[in-house]
Amino acid sequence: MTIHIGAEPGQIAETVLLPGDPLRAEWAAKTFLENPICVNRVRGMLGFTGTWNGHRVTIHGSGMGMPSLSIYANELIRDYGAKTLVRIGSCGAMQQNIGLRDVILAMTASSLSTPSLGIFRELNFAPCANFNLLQNAVTAAKNIGATCHVGGVYSADVFYDERPDLNDIMIRHGILGVEMEAAELYNLAARHGVRALAVLTVSDHLLTHEALPSEDRQSSFGDMVQIALEAAFA
Ligand code: HPA
Repeated sequence: MTIHIGAEPGQIAETVLLPGDPLRAEWAAKTFLENPICVNRVRGMLGFTGTWNGHRVTIHGSGMGMPSLSIYANELIRDYGAKTLVRIGSCGAMQQNIGLRDVILAMTASSLSTPSLGIFRELNFAPCANFNLLQNAVTAAKNIGATCHVGGVYSADVFYDERPDLNDIMIRHGILGVEMEAAELYNLAARHGVRALAVLTVSDHLLTHEALPSEDRQSSFGDMVQIALEAAFA
């Protein structure tokens, strides 16, 4: 047990999928895994471990934002030995050629700041995905017929943004989408020598102001789970 995860030693798999929402973790585990068991419910943050095609997998909520993700990713890696961490989440599209429901694979994650700022200080570290996972995810996305974009995302600190000029700069620099967790996941993966990737679906569009109806979010989420599992075990 750790401060935030009630699992016994050995109850967390080396491969962990990280949706933001704990109820999504429960849905994904019950939909995709064989014999899922609940291994965490501390503070209502649910985690489940089961098997997929014979491989052990944990699906654990990360919460929203980098400070929350940092708590779970640190404990999963340092205390439970997680070696592959795949975030599955939503993002806002930042380019005209990207549509609702499209999949964005975050090759890099830019930010204004991350919880690692205190370590990097004056360094501008470039958080990036694990290449092998990224390559596998491109193949997996093609296999399920998803429209997939690979490139940089922007990991923002706030959802209710008072600085639209920051989004404009990201858009001008070709950033594909905005979300709130990938950069610190990649920082932590680099620090601890483990693999990480963020698989995102577009739930809203910053340029067209379209948004995905809630009934469509579940199926997009299912596609991400499939891509994440296939990428992890290819
Ligand atoms: N901003 C930040 N995070 C998000 C967004 C957004 O527009 N959409 C989905 N996650």
